[in-house]
Amino acid sequence: MELVPAGPDVDNRAVLEHGNILYFPPAPGGAGFPIPSAVLDALTGTTQDARAIHKNIAYKPNKDAVSGLVDKSQTVATRDAMRDYSGRALKFLATILPEYAAMWKVDYASFRSIEERGRQLPLTKRNDLLHVDAFPTRPVFGDLILRCFTNVSPSQKREWLTSDPFPLLAEREARNAGLEGYAAKSGSAVESARRAAWRALHAAGVPLVDRSPYDSFMLHFHDWMKANADYQKNCPKYRFDLPPGSTWLVFTDVVPHAVLGGRLAMEQTVIVSRKSMKDPSLAPASILERMAGRNLTS
Ligand code: SIN
Ligand code: FE
Repeated sequence: MELVPAGPDVDNRAVLEHGNILYFPPAPGGAGFPIPSAVLDALTGTTQDARAIHKNIAYKPNKDAVSGLVDKSQTVATRDAMRDYSGRALKFLATILPEYAAMWKVDYASFRSIEERGRQLPLTKRNDLLHVDAFPTRPVFGDLILRCFTNVSPSQKREWLTSDPFPLLAEREARNAGLEGYAAKSGSAVESARRAAWRALHAAGVPLVDRSPYDSFMLHFHDWMKANADYQKNCPKYRFDLPPGSTWLVFTDVVPHAVLGGRLAMEQTVIVSRKSMKDPSLAPASILERMAGRNLTS
């Protein structure tokens, strides 16, 4: 995997789908999209309680609301700044990835205001351990998690570590992580009954998440990777320093990633439909379905 600078001859979808980082250097000249200095000032003045249960400050575009702030007096300024970032990022993404934008689901934006080096978090929430992303509350049913990051720090680089992307990761580790068990449940009578009951309860207003076997496996895989000292120690590693002002895009369920240092990053997530990929066979769900010999996403 590599960091690929964007440019006129670059096929953005192919770069991302093959598990690379699509990179936009800082201004002048190479910035992905400009962020007004008033917005940057609002963000750098934002504080977040390191003890908060929220890992980051979240902005939900559909509700125009922020969560995760401790100092509530900052809510309006932070929300306005995050709305601005979210809007610019989505417009930018739609310009450079029109095929994805035609079908994507807009997810949350986040603001990562806490220094990552030395951050104390429970194992499964640690950002400094390599992992692929999966959302407990927002199953994707085989679609993909695309994230646009911008380092909004005026002075500090953001230090990333990555490893080989999903095709190699799955080949080496998916069976060790118990893929067969998740696949065996898929389509079984017990699993179908459980899903039906789940859907009925959900329809009745009980807040339950109906996830596919793929989503269950990916949630498990996220934790399994973080807990696997052998994987963390021995997997191939690639280091990237993302300078202040730079923007980078990556499928975070395709590319194992960790952040080792840096503070003040913005991020916007979109859920990309597997159908809108240039090569849908590269989706993590497609890879796992081939390995398991069955559908894992309905
Ligand atoms: C992550 O998505 O795991 C952390 C990446 C970052 O905040 O830079
Ligand atoms: Fe992550």
